[in-house]
Order: sequence, then C-alpha cells, then structure tokens
Amino acid sequence: MEKKLKTCLTSIRGKTDFSPKVALILGSGLGDYADGIHIETTMDYTEIEGFPVSTVKGHKGRFVFGYVGEVPVVIMQGRVHYYEGYPMTDVVLPTRLMGLLGAKQLILTNAAGGINGTFCPGDFMMITDHIAVGVPSPLIGPNLDELGPRFPDMSEVYSTRIRTVIKEAASACQMNLKEGVYVQLTGPNYETPAEIRMCRSWGGDAVGMSTACEAMAARHMGMEIGGISCITNLAAGMSKQKLDHMEVQESADRVSKDFKRLITRIIETI
Ligand code: 6GU
Repeated sequence: MEKKLKTCLTSIRGKTDFSPKVALILGSGLGDYADGIHIETTMDYTEIEGFPVSTVKGHKGRFVFGYVGEVPVVIMQGRVHYYEGYPMTDVVLPTRLMGLLGAKQLILTNAAGGINGTFCPGDFMMITDHIAVGVPSPLIGPNLDELGPRFPDMSEVYSTRIRTVIKEAASACQMNLKEGVYVQLTGPNYETPAEIRMCRSWGGDAVGMSTACEAMAARHMGMEIGGISCITNLAAGMSKQKLDHMEVQESADRVSKDFKRLITRIIETI
C-alpha cells in the first residue's frame, strides 16, 4: 500500500479497532452533527501520523467513531481542502482511510452556492452528479491497484440506491429536497459572475470547493456514495449581495437542526 496511507492506517489501528459501516464527511458549518451522536471514541487529526491537518476556522479536525442508531459510523469533523495547498492525494487521504477502516458507504456533505435560479439559501440539494473540470483528479499518479482500477468508471458516482434512501428520508422528515449537479472549483476565491454563467451553461446547479474529489477517490475504491449540499447563498451575479464566509457559516448554522434530522434518518435507513 502507498506509504502515507499505510502509516496513517497503522497509526489509527494502534488506537482503535472500531469498524465503521458508514463514513460521513461534514461540510462547513455542519460540523457539530458529530457532537450529537453516540460517541465511542474520537481522534484528532494531529494524533494520526502523516495526516493532513486542516487550517480553516470552524473546521474541527478529528475523526469521530460512534453510532447513529445501531449503525457504526466514522465521521470527519472538518475536511481538508485543495485550496489549503495540499496535493490532491492528501486531500482524499482521509476518505481512503475511512474506506480502508471498513466503511462501505460514504455520505458527503458541503456548503455550496446556488447556481440554479430556483434554489434559495437554506435549501438542501441531493447531489445527482458532479463536474470537476479544472480541479486535478485525485487519481493522477501511479494507480493504487489494491484500491481500484487505473481507469475507473464514473457513470454512477452517486448511487441510485442511496439517492432513493435520501429522497425517502427527506420525505419522512417532511423536508423539501432539491436535486442537482455539483460543480467543484478550486477556490479559495468565490467565482466571478461570468464563471457562474459558465457553470450554469454546463449544467451545474450548485458550486463549491470540495466533495467531487473525495467522491472520485471513494468511487475508485468501490464505495457507495451519497451527497448533500446545503445551499448557503446564491452564487456571484445572482443577487446584489457580496459573498463572504460568514454568510456561508450563518446559513449553515440556521439549517443545522434540519440537517441533523435528515442525516440521521439517512444513516438509519441506508
Ligand atoms: Cl458561491 N462558491 C464556492 N466555490 N463555494 C461556495 C460558495 C460559492 N458558497 C458556498 N461555498
């Protein structure tokens, strides 16, 4: 196995033998979901040898191992972003680790800007597909044959089965659920209005700085994936408001109660 991945895996296995079924990555402002579950043990990223540590404020950096209902989960409370300067292989290393720890399913979440004119801040969008053009693939470099094939198929990154689970969960929670295509760009700057028009003409519905790369790495390993964007604001050119990270955080905070209900229901029925 690739050296860094093996070092991290050995380091984690030296601390816990917990075997998660579902992996969950929490986006900006959604991180406190992990505080409310039945926690078995936590592990700060700094405790894991060779692990990339995030620098974004409001992103706690740790794995939480525990249970949502009866389901054993591993949660990333705080993710690493490409714009922080890490190579893409480091950005997806935590995702790969969760897969190697035994998680067969991955739920990805993020805060995203709305591109689709029918979306409002506070909406949840189930990710049906993604566009990651202009972000380097995390699979560039020697193929990790023990994880997956050189040229992995990406025709169903976000599993049809999990999409049904997500829709049924939203319906059971009596929550409105949008759906659409997520566009990942590098950030850290927000986009220009012209870039947002381009994303829209490409078929994008929401835009952000994460998720697609992690989905690619997880799909490469054969994990089954679901994704949810929290639409925290409208993208550039769509409203008079300037974009800032505070607004993103505040919107995510505002919907965090609904987010918790939805995620819990998804994991319990997955
Ligand atoms: Cl408008 N753009 C990007 N790239 N990320 C975001 C966003 C916009 N809103 C929240 N996250």
